[in-house]
Parts: sequence; structure tokens; C-alpha cells
Amino acid sequence: MDHKTNTTLLFSLLFFITHLSNALSKDLCNENDKNTLLKIKKSLNNPYHLASWHPETDCCSWYCLECGDATVNHRVISLTLFAGQISGQLPPAGGDLPYLQKLVFRKLTNLTGQIPHSITKLKYLTFLWLSWTNLTGPVPDFLSQLVNLDYLNLSFNELSGSVPSSLSLLPKLTYIDLSRNKLTGTMPESFGSFPGEVPYLILSHNQLSGSTPKSLGNLDFNRIDFSRNKLTGDASMLFGANKTTFSIDLSRNMFQFDLSRVVLPESLGVLDLNHNGITGSIPVQWTEYSLQILNVSYNRLCGPIPTGGSLQRFDSYIYFHNKCLCGAPLDSCK
Ligand SMILES: *[C@@H]1O[C@H](CO)[C@@H](O)[C@H](O)[C@H]1NC(C)=O
Ligand SMILES: *[C@@H]1O[C@H](CO)[C@@H](O)[C@H](O)[C@H]1NC(C)=O
Ligand SMILES: *[C@@H]1O[C@H](CO)[C@@H](O)[C@H](O)[C@H]1NC(C)=O
Ligand SMILES: *[C@@H]1O[C@H](CO)[C@@H](O)[C@H](O)[C@H]1NC(C)=O
Ligand SMILES: *[C@@H]1O[C@H](CO)[C@@H](O)[C@H](O)[C@H]1NC(C)=O
Repeated sequence: MDHKTNTTLLFSLLFFITHLSNALSKDLCNENDKNTLLKIKKSLNNPYHLASWHPETDCCSWYCLECGDATVNHRVISLTLFAGQISGQLPPAGGDLPYLQKLVFRKLTNLTGQIPHSITKLKYLTFLWLSWTNLTGPVPDFLSQLVNLDYLNLSFNELSGSVPSSLSLLPKLTYIDLSRNKLTGTMPESFGSFPGEVPYLILSHNQLSGSTPKSLGNLDFNRIDFSRNKLTGDASMLFGANKTTFSIDLSRNMFQFDLSRVVLPESLGVLDLNHNGITGSIPVQWTEYSLQILNVSYNRLCGPIPTGGSLQRFDSYIYFHNKCLCGAPLDSCK
């Protein structure tokens, strides 16, 4: 072999080795996803929490992220930021992670601003959990475009405005938690029909007012929490013998209805009605079921507490401050 052939061979070999090692260390991360993530990092002011988000490394190995398998070409499917020193707004660039299924921003008190419209681009999103932040603005109507959404938790924020009725259009929702915000207005009429499963409905600790739409009586909720709002009128449609509801919390509102005719679902384990304007008496039927938690204090109930079931096992204070309830565990009726 002459010198020239030798050199060519050497170069070919080098070329081959370089390619081989490139192939072996090939990033799983999609280039577009990586660029988007670096944009997100920048828009959050390059927090220390995201120090592992380094352009020279495979983004599928970065902290807070998860890539899908080969069936989705290893695109980013989950972004979870929890309790970091993160300041800024929800990055609109998040909408450019088109395969995202799960988006979580939690315990980030310096996260401000509104939920960006770009989120509607996340067509595969099933899980949206934005909690314990300082997000403001409305619960956006456009969330109804996220047709695969299963879990929606926007609790413990500073959101205002009304509960968008369009949420009832989402066919796969099984959890709606909008508790501990500053929501006002009435319960949407549309919440009396969800196209798919009937979701857990948690709207507690807001400033919702008005009466509960009759339509909600058509649904068999598993769990309802409307506590600590300013809701008025009748809520008896939420009950009924043919439901399988487990938990109903209507405490600290201004509900007014006659309890005497309220038939509880057999499945009911938790019933909290404290601090309302509920009248009538406790139905005898209630002795047939084994409620684990009951609270009817601070209402306008009257008459004897029926004897039997779990009704005498509770502490007397769950019956306190009514108009004229009597009998064990309270004082006997005169
Ligand atoms: C939030 O921002 C304030 C003021 O810039 C800062 O003092 C605080 O440490 C930040 N908190 C978090 C959890 O990032
Ligand atoms: C975030 O909310 C907390 C209390 O909820 C408040 O003390 C703090 O000032 C807020 N921070 C910003 C940046 O708005
Ligand atoms: C929603 O988030 C809050 C705060 O992190 C949590 O306490 C609550 O259980 C969540 N709700 C549901 C329905 O998972
Ligand atoms: C439950 O009872 C209500 C009122 O009696 C009735 O309108 C409704 O159709 C019943 N639902 C089911 C699932 O049987
Ligand atoms: C029932 O409600 C009253 C009034 O809010 C409260 O003081 C009491 O602790 C509650 N009891 C239970 C067991 O929830």
C-alpha cells in the first residue's frame, strides 16, 4: 500500500468511527421539542431548578420531563414543574410541545399571569394541573378545545370570572377541581349534562352565587363539593335514592330547602350541610344508611333526631345550632 491509500483508509476509518459513535449517542430528543424547552427555560428566567436543561444533552434525560416511546418518536409527553424557585408567566411556548399529555405547574407562588391561549394547541393533553400558583385571569373558555382532557385541576390560584359552561363539552373529563380561587357568577346550567362520564365536581372556596340549576339533578355525581360559596335556594335535586353518590359537601353557603323529603343515595358516606338555611326535619330513612361523616349544624332543622343507624354515634355538635332538633345525642325532646 502506498502512502495515499493508507491515508484514505485511515480517513475512512475515522469517518466510520465518528458516525458510529454519533449513532450510538444519538439524542432521543426531538430537535423541535428541545428548542421549545430551551425557550421555556429562558422565559422562566433560566431557573436553577432547570439547570439540567442543557442544549448539549439529550432533552429526554432532563429534569421534570418525560419523553414517549418510539411510537411517538420520543416526543416530550410530560412536563411537571413542582416547588422550584421559578418566577415568570406560564410560557406560551408550552403550546409548541405538540405531543404533551401531561402538564403540571404546582407550588410555584411566583408564577403569575394568565393561562395562555397557546395551550389549545396541545391536542393530546389529558392531564392539566396548575395549583398553588399566583395565576390570575379567567378559567378560559378555550379549555373546552382540549378534547382529550381527563383531569382538570386549577385549584389554589387567583383565578376570577365565572365557571365556563363550555367545560361540559369535554367528553372525557372525570375531574374538575376549581376550588380556592376567586370565581364568581352562577353554576352553569350546562353542568347538568356531560357527554361522557360524570366528573368529580369540586368548586369549593370561591364566591359562586345563585341557585343550583335543576339540570344537575339529572346526573349521578360521585363527589360534589360546593362548600364555602354564596349559593342559595334548593339543592335537594343533588340527592335521590337512585344515585350512587359518595360525598356531598354543601357547607357554608346559603342553601334553603326542606330536608324532610330528601332521600339519600344508599352509597352516601359523607354529607356536610353545616352553615346553611336548611329547614324541616331529619328523615327517618336516614337511619337505614351508614354515613361515615355527617354535619347538619348551623341550620334551621327541627324535630327529633331519628333513632338508629349511625345517627346516634356522631358527636352532638354535628347537630348543634339548629332551630329545635332534639333527642340523642342532643337533649331529649320535651
Ligand atoms: C418569589 O419572588 C420573591 C421576590 O422576587 C423572592 O424573594 C422569593 O424567594 C421567590 N419565591 C420563590 C418560591 O421562588
Ligand atoms: C403570591 O401569592 C402569595 C400569597 O398567596 C403572596 O403573598 C405573594 O405576594 C404573591 N406573589 C406574587 C409574585 O404575586
Ligand atoms: C387538586 O389539587 C389540590 C392541590 O394540589 C389537591 O389538594 C386536590 O386534591 C386536587 N384535586 C383533585 C380532584 O385531585
Ligand atoms: C332517578 O329518579 C329521578 C326522579 O325520580 C328520575 O327522573 C330519573 O330518571 C331516575 N334516574 C335513573 C337513572 O333511574
Ligand atoms: C361540623 O360543622 C361545625 C360548624 O362548622 C364545625 O364546628 C364542626 O367541627 C363540624 N364537625 C365535623 C365532625 O365535621
